[in-house]
Amino acid sequence: MQLQETKTLISAGEIQAKVAELAGRVDKDYYGKNPLLLCVLKGAVIFLADFMRCLTIPVEIDFMAVSSYGASTKSSGVVRILKDLESSIEGRHVLIVEDIIDTGLTLKYLVENLRSRGPATVKIVTLLDKPDRREVDIEADYCGFKIPNEFVVGYGLDYNEGYRQLPQVSVLKGSQK
Ligand code: PRP
Repeated sequence: MQLQETKTLISAGEIQAKVAELAGRVDKDYYGKNPLLLCVLKGAVIFLADFMRCLTIPVEIDFMAVSSYGASTKSSGVVRILKDLESSIEGRHVLIVEDIIDTGLTLKYLVENLRSRGPATVKIVTLLDKPDRREVDIEADYCGFKIPNEFVVGYGLDYNEGYRQLPQVSVLKGSQK
C-alpha cells in the first residue's frame, strides 16, 4: 500500500512529553497497587509500549482484542471479544490503555464486561479523545489530547491497517471526517 501525504496534528515530541506526564500521574495514583495495564488491540500497542516505559511502579500487562458486530449494528454497542485476557482480574486494579475514544461504545461495553469480573477498580487512560463524536456517557480518567473530529492516523492508529508506524499523529490530506 502506498502511503498518502499526511499533515501532522500532534508531533512525536509533543506525544512523548504527554505520555511522560500521564505516566507521572499514574505513578502517583497507583503507588503500591501493582496495576494491570489492559491494552486494547491493535491501535493502543504503541502507546502502551511508550507509556509503560515511563512508569516506575511495578505493573503487569495483558491484551484484549474486540470488534463491533459490523457497521449496521455498531450503534447497538454490542462488542465481540476476539481475544480475552489471559488471567483473572478479580481484586486487581485494572487500567485500560486506549489510543482513542470516539463514540465511546467500545469502552462502555468493555468497562461493563470487566466490572462483572470483580476487579478492585477499572479506570481508563487514553492518548486521544474526540468528545464531539461521543454517543454514550463515558470519560477517560487520564486523557492525553482532546482532538477535533478529523480522521487521524499514526502512533498506532490506522487507515486500512496502514500508517500505524508513524511516530506522530497525523491527518490524512484530503480525507473526510
Ligand atoms: C479504535 C480504538 C478504540 C475504538 C474507539 O479501534 O482503538 O478501541 O476504535 O472507537 P469507539 O469509541 O467509537 O468505540 P479500532 O476498532 O479502529 O481497532 P484497531 O485499534 O485494531 O485499529
